[in-house]
Amino acid sequence: MKFSKFSERAYDHKTGWRINPDAGESAPERKFPYIDNGTGFVEANRYYDPGFAQAEWERLWTRVWLIAGRASDIPNVGDWFKFDIGNQSLIVVRSAEGIRAFHNVCHHRGNRLVMADFGHAEHFTCAFHSWQWNIDGSLNRITDRDTFRDPVICDEPGLTPVALDQWGGFVFVNLDANPSRSLQEFLGAVPAQLAPFHFEDMVVVKDVQTRWPANWKTALDAFLESYHVHAVHSEILGFYDDYYQQWDLLENGMSRMLMEFATVSPRVEDQQTVNDGLIMMLQDAGMDPETFKGTAGDVRKAIQRHKIPAYAKAGKWFDGLVENQATDDWAYFIFPNVTLNIHPEGFLFQRFRPDPRDPESFVYDVQVILQPVENAKPPVYMGVEDGTDCSGNTRPERQHIRHGEPGLGFVLQQDSVLVPVVQQGLRSRAFKGARFSEQEQRLRHFHAELDRYIAGEK
Ligand code: FES
Ligand SMILES: [Fe+2]
Repeated sequence: MKFSKFSERAYDHKTGWRINPDAGESAPERKFPYIDNGTGFVEANRYYDPGFAQAEWERLWTRVWLIAGRASDIPNVGDWFKFDIGNQSLIVVRSAEGIRAFHNVCHHRGNRLVMADFGHAEHFTCAFHSWQWNIDGSLNRITDRDTFRDPVICDEPGLTPVALDQWGGFVFVNLDANPSRSLQEFLGAVPAQLAPFHFEDMVVVKDVQTRWPANWKTALDAFLESYHVHAVHSEILGFYDDYYQQWDLLENGMSRMLMEFATVSPRVEDQQTVNDGLIMMLQDAGMDPETFKGTAGDVRKAIQRHKIPAYAKAGKWFDGLVENQATDDWAYFIFPNVTLNIHPEGFLFQRFRPDPRDPESFVYDVQVILQPVENAKPPVYMGVEDGTDCSGNTRPERQHIRHGEPGLGFVLQQDSVLVPVVQQGLRSRAFKGARFSEQEQRLRHFHAELDRYIAGEK
């Protein structure tokens, strides 16, 4: 690996790199002030200790806003999806009055009401003794009611509601009956920053669920930094700048990193040739690499100049996006467990959920969520298989795959090999805790916020 193209500039953690040094105070690419989370090591026990996992359950998962799913997945009254977090299961359903969430449990003997990921219902009927609820949660039937003595059922138990709110087409839930902050307060400035992408119009075109043998944070950490890309995903360095990135720390543990695509990594020796990765990028943008006259360094701007008017003409360009967003990956972290890799066409959604039985196992959800387009092929980096219907007319089935099985695409496949090995390494008696570089400042920011929850400060 060559490191010859780095500039002489020393990295200053207080100013960081900027993706657009000319960006003004209110520009989408503006640099946010540095938040100093110190230089301490992050202890390994949080990645495997059942006691820490229990503290997370009591102080984080049961108190924080969580993305349960997409409103577009339940377009009609009666449509529902199931969302499991820890040992709790919820039903998110569209009623005539709007989207509601309820605990997925029968008040008779505790059976779960729904088992599938998605469905449509006129009523929720328990499979054990047929008690039944309306989709607004009200009780509809107690089977053989006259055989119950009155005190057992006189409260006419409706399904137990769960706090719910929405932003950007995401349905958020909060297991805390009285959340300490509204969703709006929790998300802070993130919705305003991402409004020009119009998430609310986007639909799921790919949906994969799997389980990896690692703590949820071991995996999440790997997606909050690009420091490992040269070692683990070197194939993408021809069209991706893994080094000069803008890392911004936001409120409530959230953060972003702005990453140039269609640019050769400074770690690559050849900075001139329009390499295979850049050729792919030109083709994705609808340009002919044969007639492209420039060098590698010209590709990113050329794609931006081509793509913006082309998208506008096709009705696919969205007011309010800036030039760099036409090519780049804007990666956001929605505390505590979702990352979004955002492009104008849509975003990659990754969610990390703990396994309630094993701190060294987690449920990994990967979805591709796009602006609906008829007969168009999304860019290769969106990771959508050829022939996928991206019109929004059909919602793909959720694929359940085992760890190591194909289905995630080659980059995530590489991470699937790496992350469980890191998990094993964290158990070493010689490991003194994680030492984060400033390229990993988003991890430090995330763990500092997690610590505040664990300490009961949030
Ligand atoms: S457990 Fe649901 S009806 Fe008996
Ligand atoms: Fe990775």
